Amino acid sequence: MHLPSAASLLLAALSLPLASAGKDHGPGHGKKQGLNTLAKKAGLKYFGSATDSPGQRERAGLEASYAKYDEIMWKSDEFGQTTPTNGQKWLFVEPAPGIFNYTEGEIVASKAKKHGKHLRCHALVWHSQLAPWVETTEWTKETLRAAIVRHITKVAGHWKGRCYAWDVVNEALNEDGTWRESVFYKVLGEEYITLAFKTAAKVDPHAKLYYNDYNLELPGAKVEGAKRIVKMLQKQRVKIDGMGLQAHLVAEWGSPADIDRHIEVMRGFGSLGVEVALTELDVRLQTPYNTTNLALQKRSYKNIVGACVQVKECIGVTIWDFYDPFSWVPYVFPGEGAPLLWFEDFTTHPAYDGVVEALTNKTRRTPSKPAKGPRSSRLLRD
Ligand code: XIL
Repeated sequence: MHLPSAASLLLAALSLPLASAGKDHGPGHGKKQGLNTLAKKAGLKYFGSATDSPGQRERAGLEASYAKYDEIMWKSDEFGQTTPTNGQKWLFVEPAPGIFNYTEGEIVASKAKKHGKHLRCHALVWHSQLAPWVETTEWTKETLRAAIVRHITKVAGHWKGRCYAWDVVNEALNEDGTWRESVFYKVLGEEYITLAFKTAAKVDPHAKLYYNDYNLELPGAKVEGAKRIVKMLQKQRVKIDGMGLQAHLVAEWGSPADIDRHIEVMRGFGSLGVEVALTELDVRLQTPYNTTNLALQKRSYKNIVGACVQVKECIGVTIWDFYDPFSWVPYVFPGEGAPLLWFEDFTTHPAYDGVVEALTNKTRRTPSKPAKGPRSSRLLRD
């Protein structure tokens, strides 16, 4: 009974007529500044988009869109950073024991270099998209340690010097903050995490080494688990530089107060001495989308990007591709989709404007004052 009025209030508050959906922010959109330009002005290192190698994204059957897609991805000032969505995962880079293939990952990595984009590299040790042999081998502690060391030595070694950051360990936690029972954990216990970070630090000493996971955007048991990982490594004097908040969000679950809770979490990680990045941001909706859930989506994007802008340790934002037809969401979450910033016809979501508002400090609630130090363009909330 409260719903219709709540929904219309929300829309009024967000002043979001559906007509604002579908703006043309393609390469020809004129004088408007792209998201990466705005992000840098807000004190971030980058605003980026993950992308897949054509070999991977062909399943979308939209080859005709590639030229326009590539122009936005590589030639506009929307993105200053990229991550290969798939090409550096174990399944692709070491499909058989000791047999390495960097082809898919190189497609994205070499384009990043050519077009001057920062590269985040993803992901060295993960239970998913693992080559099947890793799960079927009968390991001893010793043989699995050796396999992890070989994998990281070869893969991080191959991209040495080219990755701003590596997601060294991905998704090691359950929702309640306990350890996920991956093959790595089952054989080695938490030692595999230490081993992975130690090895990566040795192989590519200049890459920022991240732990990366989903559902770390709001306070809770999983965030505490992630802090435990940081502290565990620091206690052993093993290098960890960053916490990756994947940020796979759901528009319908958001609330206006989320910005404060995002800020709390990011500051909490920052206080441990690691930087923070939003590494795989998308905000999925029940499809077909409508004015109401596009408005909710806009609010979610604005809240999380706004939080990043306001926390000095949050250094950048990566969306998990930018073009809806190439999103992973409809494949994994039936009935949900349209989680990115560009619709299929290359017009932009209302959420694009939400990101612009966040990057231009429109999420602060109290009068601003300039932050001290090198990030003086940043405006603080209090
Ligand atoms: C997803 C890719 O986008 C899909 O193409 C693939 O089929 C499955 O993986 N967490 C991660 C990412 O760390 O690597 C995942 O990417 C999404 C969830």
